[in-house]
Amino acid sequence: MTNRLKVLSLLEPLLLDEYLQRDVYDTYSYYLFGLCSPKLQEHLSSHRTEEDKHIKLLQRYMMSLRAAPLLKRLPIPVINPPIGNILFKNLELEMAAVAQYSKAVLVLDALKDPAFVSLKVDLENILIEEQEHVHDLQQWLREDIRSEEAKAAGKVC
Ligand SMILES: [Fe+2]
Ligand SMILES: [Fe+2]
Repeated sequence: MTNRLKVLSLLEPLLLDEYLQRDVYDTYSYYLFGLCSPKLQEHLSSHRTEEDKHIKLLQRYMMSLRAAPLLKRLPIPVINPPIGNILFKNLELEMAAVAQYSKAVLVLDALKDPAFVSLKVDLENILIEEQEHVHDLQQWLREDIRSEEAKAAGKVC
């Protein structure tokens, strides 16, 4: 398999999961509407904006490698609010993204192909942002756990 094809097969699942993350943030935001502090809503919306940036970047690399635009999308997982469940699902997806990008960076490292050095750096930068998303969600969940009273009232943020 050529390096071009190896890299394309590496990028496609990353892109599919980025679309899923963006769609999940978008769709779940309607559960949070009116239930949750505007601060948390804004924060999750900033994650969504960053996922969108990742989508564009990955899609551009794929186009530069002569791939067709990715039309496939993954189904959005059905979830039962309360908010804790939503944040846990977001956290699960973010942790999966960290694992995936870490693996992808190592694969590109092993290729030792100068044509893909900038891609590797871009993936490392995305990885840093995904790791920040994980930390943010862990922090919100800790605040959620502390807020027992609000939790009992169904308002955990
Ligand atoms: Fe992302
Ligand atoms: Fe993320």
